[in-house]
Amino acid sequence: MQTRLTEMLGIQHPIIQGGMQWVGLAELASAVSNAGGLGIITGLTQPTPEDLFKEIARCREMTDKPFGVNLTILPTIKPVPYEEYALAIIDSGIKIVETAGRNPEPFLPGFKAAGITVIHKCTSIRHSLKAEKIGCDMVSVDGFECAGHPGEDDVTNLILLPLAAKRLKIPFIASGGLGDGRGLAAALAMGAEGINMGTRFMVTKEAPIHAKVKQAMVDASELDTSLIFRSLSNTARVFKNSVAQKVVEIESKPGATKFEDIQSLVAGVKGRELLDGGDLDNGIWSAGMIVGLIDDIPSCEELVHRIVADAEQIIGERLRQILPV
Ligand SMILES: Cc1cc2nc3c(=O)[nH]c(=O)nc-3n(C[C@H](O)[C@H](O)[C@H](O)COP(=O)(O)O)c2cc1C
Repeated sequence: MQTRLTEMLGIQHPIIQGGMQWVGLAELASAVSNAGGLGIITGLTQPTPEDLFKEIARCREMTDKPFGVNLTILPTIKPVPYEEYALAIIDSGIKIVETAGRNPEPFLPGFKAAGITVIHKCTSIRHSLKAEKIGCDMVSVDGFECAGHPGEDDVTNLILLPLAAKRLKIPFIASGGLGDGRGLAAALAMGAEGINMGTRFMVTKEAPIHAKVKQAMVDASELDTSLIFRSLSNTARVFKNSVAQKVVEIESKPGATKFEDIQSLVAGVKGRELLDGGDLDNGIWSAGMIVGLIDDIPSCEELVHRIVADAEQIIGERLRQILPV
């Protein structure tokens, strides 16, 4: 498959592994890149910019294929030295950056001067148009199905992707709710140049998380995600465990929810412990509705090849048969 995405990034298959806090380490990113997709190291998973620099070097030892780095610019309790992380990315010679969370404009001059291709992740058309206007090279359009932060508009990819095709001039990637060949074929049909997956790549052999977390996602249905932080207008889609249900319960009480009321339940350190240790009710973790379509724990190579082969079969056979000769 050749699309503007494979051409612009110099990759074999139009599949990206999106940034994932605590999950996007060199092990996963290199496995996805070695499979012919684009692996992405998550910048802020590294405690300091120096550690990010080292993680990028570690990933280079594991793959000679292109890979990228995610820089998520979100309001945090502890201030983050974003500029220094951006410098570590530039100094390390990385050529592909996925930005998310907030308008990446302040970082663009530095990235552009270093010849970096910037893919900005957006959950709405207005943000996608803004990203195009400020000079991003591509956008990842993240629909309501997605893990992590779907925004507050609740528009699914069946609407967002055709809208992106109508309105954007720069190439766009479909993100959220994708995990199989049907999804890839549908995304391409709706005008996307490829797909970005988070949740599906969590459930692979190389994802550096506990086997129990992967198995919980295999066992889950499409109904097993929860939307938390809605009352704070900072919605996050997470796996529906007892902690997520408790947070939703607290948020649904009359009156405004104070972050202090839920802070201890959702602490990042607990989520990290959960992913490392496999205690499924220790905290929260991001997961998308695609869990309902995940039935196994393949290697990244098996997964990427299966998705591409299935999509090729759908496009080349099923869709072709629909058209009379
Ligand atoms: C465990 C996990 C952590 C994530 N952390 C981040 C993050 O730190 N920054 C970011 O931009 N996106 C993050 N995401 C979102 C993914 O990059 C991607 O946009 C999303 O997973 C796509 O939806 P999907 O899960 O349905 O494939 C995370 C997703 C997961 C599953």
